[in-house]
Amino acid sequence: MRPQRVLVIDFGGQYAHLIARRCRELGVYSEIVPFTTPLEEAFSGCYETLGIILSGGPRSVDDPGAPRLSAEGLSRVPVPVLGICYGHQLIARAFGGEVEHGSLMEYGRTSVRIVERDVLFMDVPEQFVAWMSHADSVVRVPPGFNVLALTERGAVAAMRHAERPVYGVQFHPEVRHTQMGSAILKRFLADVCGFRCDWRPMDRVEELSREIAETVPPDEHVVCAVSGGVDSVTTAVLLSRTLGGRLHCIFVDHGLMRKGEPEQVVSTLRRMGIINLVFVRAADRFLSRLKGVKDPEEKRRIIGEEFARVFEEEAAKIPKARWLAQGTIYPDRIESGLAGSGSALIKTHHNVAGLPAGLRLRLVEPLRDLYKDEVREVARSLGIPEEIASRHPFPGPGLAVRIIGEVTEEKLRVCREANAIVEEEFKRAGVYDKVWQAFAVVTDSTWTGVMGDVRAEGYVVIVRAVESEDGMTADWYRPDMELIDRISKRIVNEVGNVTMVAYATTPKPPSTIEPC
Ligand code: XMP
Repeated sequence: MRPQRVLVIDFGGQYAHLIARRCRELGVYSEIVPFTTPLEEAFSGCYETLGIILSGGPRSVDDPGAPRLSAEGLSRVPVPVLGICYGHQLIARAFGGEVEHGSLMEYGRTSVRIVERDVLFMDVPEQFVAWMSHADSVVRVPPGFNVLALTERGAVAAMRHAERPVYGVQFHPEVRHTQMGSAILKRFLADVCGFRCDWRPMDRVEELSREIAETVPPDEHVVCAVSGGVDSVTTAVLLSRTLGGRLHCIFVDHGLMRKGEPEQVVSTLRRMGIINLVFVRAADRFLSRLKGVKDPEEKRRIIGEEFARVFEEEAAKIPKARWLAQGTIYPDRIESGLAGSGSALIKTHHNVAGLPAGLRLRLVEPLRDLYKDEVREVARSLGIPEEIASRHPFPGPGLAVRIIGEVTEEKLRVCREANAIVEEEFKRAGVYDKVWQAFAVVTDSTWTGVMGDVRAEGYVVIVRAVESEDGMTADWYRPDMELIDRISKRIVNEVGNVTMVAYATTPKPPSTIEPC
């Protein structure tokens, strides 16, 4: 039986990943491809593509140079198609409907009324709330299409071709604010496309493991950089199942780890049956190269470069090594501009940019198609301790990106201790698993304090906690003030050299999650 997938064609919309994730949550493996991908490619390869979803996008269908689809092209697609927002307008335009700019704009929660009860809307009430974000609207459906639902202002909220399974919806079923949005998507996937809806992240991992077993010849070895995060530990454990003693893990302690992390990682990996583990204490090398460096991108570059060097030296000691395993996951590849529709480079991600080029090793990335929460699920099914499986993401360059300006030993101490307090208190309050990340940042500013009647200069520490589905967008977490009070008091009293604790209240965008 060939594995099934739904293809999400990305027209540059901010929700393309959300669509892909929702499909996976509904048990259908999804992949995102840029709109420039020839449609024939969708039907080649090992997957059986049973449906296509056209994402939203920032353009107007009639803008010069805006991505287009032809009715003829769409008619050749042998599987059901669902256009969302821009995708909906594209379908309308392709088949000769009318799309108007600016006359019926709707943003946020909008009421939608069902006009014809199609299979897509079996589970929703006649009137339901849907999330909209559109300046353009379909005001007349193309010949041969039926209106299925209307928005409050009279735009076409949903339509379908009378004879073929071609659908368009103006609203975003993938956004949680759309009432029964998942049920609408489920109907499309299960009833219209005919998916089995039984996919689990582990399925993809097993496929990739089989691929690895077939690709790595029996006399060649693999080196794996482990950082202690759930991604790299899962990669290592996964590979050790297939490769056993042919896997060599290298853990570089760059001195920028969280409190107690190096020891914890090493003991976990040993317990998980990793036989070959090299632990490199390299803190001095990294810290001396970071001396005097203030620029965030420069800090990232140096850490990436030094990491590559240390790693290269260690890997060179493993003569049969021909492969490099990395815990790269789907969003890493997207934000580094290596996948998706060529999204702009936001920050150099260490585990992608820091590839030791000189090693000439071939790359194995068994988690490359998974989102973070899917990796956690895989980790649990491999028996990786909960402490690592549910641990918040931690950037490759470590605490260096949580220190604004120069990384000094003192700022590093403050940062490490303050981060440990934030983690501890979030866990104690039972909200650690509710947030994507919670951490402390040491700024380059000081605040005049009075401590025991004496004037004292200390650092300003910012506590940041965010909620996010995949780190691509994030909102700041609204904490209980008692929790913030406890964290603030503990940082000032226990860490020392801190005279002000602030809480960050800016979402991503515009701010990134980590400060630098
Ligand atoms: P930003 O800060 O870019 O973060 O909004 C998005 C997510 O990625 C993590 N992050 C990194 N992870 N290497 C990593 O492996 C990096 O260089 C890096 N920079 C940021 C960040 O913690 C957040 O979860």
